[in-house]
Amino acid sequence: GLPERVTIYEVGPRDGLQNEKAIIPVADKAEFIVRLADAGLRTIETTSFVHPKWVPQLADAEELIGALPGTDAVRRPVLVPNERGLDRALANGVTDIAIFASATESFARRNLNRTVDESLAMFAPVVERARAEGLWVRVYVSMACGDPWEGDVPIEQVVSVARRVMDLGCSQLSLGDTIGVGTPGQVTALITALAEAGIGPDRLAVHFHDTYGQALANTLAALRAGVTVVDASAGGIGGCPYAESSTGNLATEDLVWMLHGLGIETGVDLEKLAATSRWMAGRLGRPSPSRVVQALSP
Ligand code: HMG
Ligand code: MG
Repeated sequence: GLPERVTIYEVGPRDGLQNEKAIIPVADKAEFIVRLADAGLRTIETTSFVHPKWVPQLADAEELIGALPGTDAVRRPVLVPNERGLDRALANGVTDIAIFASATESFARRNLNRTVDESLAMFAPVVERARAEGLWVRVYVSMACGDPWEGDVPIEQVVSVARRVMDLGCSQLSLGDTIGVGTPGQVTALITALAEAGIGPDRLAVHFHDTYGQALANTLAALRAGVTVVDASAGGIGGCPYAESSTGNLATEDLVWMLHGLGIETGVDLEKLAATSRWMAGRLGRPSPSRVVQALSP
């Protein structure tokens, strides 16, 4: 069966803008987030407290958080790689964080300058302190469906990293198909294997990049397997600067079109959302890659 309601975890301001060449002014980023909330999105990943040299697009994290209106209605998680990032998040009143692990050694090295073991050692005190401070902690496991340097990634390898990061005490695991190579049968098999390892679909989210046009099909497979949290990026912007051949995420508009067509509630106003993505496309100087945004354009 399919769920009655899906929670969309919007990643446009973080995953989207981190990989755009244009540096967007803080005021425009803040407006983007406010407009996404006004379109009905209730979880919006806002920025990253990573090293500013690694991701210059998000070097304004403190300033952006300071520019946002206070709200209880919207959760605004931020990416945090290490204790230095956690310190910055706490100093800025953040209540929700996401750490980001890799299923492969190649990507752990390129994205975190660590082996998989070293990165888990880096995350352990972050999760422990975050939980002691009452924060909500999500963890990503990247390269869950394939890796640009290593090729196929065995399911057992993804499950093993997933088990280890969830044992640190995270509340939610987002399965990252960072380069968008996965197909629906793989997604079903992965979710089944995770359930067998004690990580049920109620603790999972899915995070599909749309490089090979499989993101919606993969999402439907995940919904059928019991997942109800889906990551998406408004207008389909973005990618990962440290993963070759990674393009934007599943576009939030494409996701909403499918979910509403299936009679699944999202709380999102599609017209308002598409208008927001058209506006952001103007700021970025290129058309939105989302098919639904294009189709709804006047
Ligand atoms: P490193 O060079 O190994 O850092 O980078 P270090 O621990 O050796 O520290 C070196 C210096 O950096 C120190 O300063 C630290 O204080 C400073 P110094 O003492 O030399 O003056 N530093 C920091 N400064 C500010 N904020 C921090 C911070 N940490 C250290 N948080 C590090 C290691 C993890 C920091 C680096 O590799 C990094 O920032 N990586 C982030 C890469 C990134 O953001 N990638 C994109 C997000 S992941 C993604 O997009 C995938 C996802 O969407 C899911 C999917 O699609 O699969 C989530
Ligand atoms: Mg991503």
